[in-house]
Amino acid sequence: MPDLDRSPLDARALNRALVHPGGLWRRIEVVPETGSTNADIAEAAARGEPEGLVVVAERQLAGRGRRDRQWVSPPRAGLTLSVLLRPAVAPGAWSWLPLMAGVALCEAVDSGAVLKWPNDLLIGDAKCAGILAEVIGDAVVLGIGLNVTTRAAELPPPTSGLEPTSLLLAGARSTDREAILRALLRAFERWYVDWRACGGAAGPVGLDDSYKKMCATIGRRVTVHLPAGDHLTGDAVTVDGDGQLVIRTDDGDRRISAGDVLHVR
Ligand code: BTN
Repeated sequence: MPDLDRSPLDARALNRALVHPGGLWRRIEVVPETGSTNADIAEAAARGEPEGLVVVAERQLAGRGRRDRQWVSPPRAGLTLSVLLRPAVAPGAWSWLPLMAGVALCEAVDSGAVLKWPNDLLIGDAKCAGILAEVIGDAVVLGIGLNVTTRAAELPPPTSGLEPTSLLLAGARSTDREAILRALLRAFERWYVDWRACGGAAGPVGLDDSYKKMCATIGRRVTVHLPAGDHLTGDAVTVDGDGQLVIRTDDGDRRISAGDVLHVR
């Protein structure tokens, strides 16, 4: 039986609305099913596809999450997409890209969403979206998974103590996937074009300030599970000019570029 809450995306309408001369987006492909849109975009990057390709899957069979986790979402219950970027700025600045995607996602979703560093989208204390950034040579693949109309019984189990949710379950203002996708790609394009024009500096375009306003981690006591397997606990005091989280511990300030953050109550 067709799920009336879960209408398909309209690729032609998306391309008409978002692809324009001089803009970032070159082509938006909506595929009924794929393994992982990040894998698809990584392949496109490896065969030399220019930046601005977007692949959106109505269903992902092997969605990838951060730290080798899976991203699971029923068909058309959310947005699962990846974009191909070839940022012509120093690679040191690329660490802002996943944070930029988080800011654009927060703006698109509205509904009181905040970010847990680096880029989990939370509504209340529950996770509604995640972002996976991967570097392939001179390309960056940004993958975004957002739960939109997912029902409680369809949600995956909590990861790292974080309950999942969806826009529907969190009572968000809009659960219109197409409108959210347009808002997301437009917001990201605005940030990216300005940031690139400033050589990848977040300060002059206000990206760092916007990120800090949306980041619920700053000011919280946190435990961070580091990629090497150890962890540290302290107070998250700010995000620095490179997008790293600064944690005040008994042994001084530590700057973290990757890790799983737990907000300690
Ligand atoms: C996370 O662990 O929070 C990141 C999840 C990222 C999931 C998205 S869904 C679209 C894209 N394709 C993938 O395989 N993963 C990302």
